[in-house]
Amino acid sequence: MLLSFHSYKGGTGKTTFVGNLGVMLAQQGKKVCIIDTDVNGPGLHSLFDIRYGMTLIDFLQGLCSADDVVYRYDNSDVYIVPSKACEEDISAMFSTPGEAREKMLTLIKKIGNKLDIDYFLFDCSPGINKSSLLILNIVDKATIVSTIDVQDIRGTYVLSSMSAKLGTHASLLFNRIPLDKKDDINDIIIDFSNKLGTELLGLVSYDESVAKNWSRKIAMKDNPDCGYCDQLKKIAQKLIR
Ligand SMILES: Nc1ncnc2c1ncn2[C@@H]1O[C@H](COP(=O)(O)OP(=O)(O)OP(=O)(O)O)[C@@H](O)[C@H]1O
Ligand SMILES: [Mg+2]
Repeated sequence: MLLSFHSYKGGTGKTTFVGNLGVMLAQQGKKVCIIDTDVNGPGLHSLFDIRYGMTLIDFLQGLCSADDVVYRYDNSDVYIVPSKACEEDISAMFSTPGEAREKMLTLIKKIGNKLDIDYFLFDCSPGINKSSLLILNIVDKATIVSTIDVQDIRGTYVLSSMSAKLGTHASLLFNRIPLDKKDDINDIIIDFSNKLGTELLGLVSYDESVAKNWSRKIAMKDNPDCGYCDQLKKIAQKLIR
């Protein structure tokens, strides 16, 4: 199954969510590969503390094989494909969007066959850009991670309608919600459903302990019974159903 995580604005919590989700799925006996397609601002390697050599970019540029860019995390069933910071967009590395898509599908196929992966998770770049649309176009399900900031919400409408046009099933995840604001977003959720048919995947509260991790720790590994992890587990059930 191919699942992607997008957002309009940066810093909504995609990398944190994807990382924790990957660790949780592996704890449940699944094999997971997380691919950092946020090539302009990659961060997955920091969260997983991967000291990388070859990356997604090298593979896309034909400089190495798929095997060279997969890193096993801590002897677990989580495999990471990191990216290094790159000023270009993924599709700009190819002459046509179709070529970029084929290359990405080749990577998935090679890793999937070799490691028998159950879930591929794509950590995408924020904003409306070709890399994000490329991934949106190949996945089974997309999740748009938003905060309740109105800038985010407006952009989330745009991303939502783009995924609808591409025919990719997208759902909404509101993250970093202050506890006293959970009820305030009911109207927004109803509006998304009425206007675009985009349904809510879940709500995650602002969690001080996650914020204080500063992407140095993975809560699902160090503190799997925390409030953030409990919320994530419920959302994951819905997502992989
Ligand atoms: N529910 C939450 N409560 C509090 N802090 C959170 C929560 N989710 C994520 N964070 C924190 O927010 C910061 C940004 O998260 P993260 O890097 O996952 O966002 P992102 O969407 O991947 O950002 P970017 O778009 O820049 O890649 C991190 O310091 C992370 O620990
Ligand atoms: Mg990120």
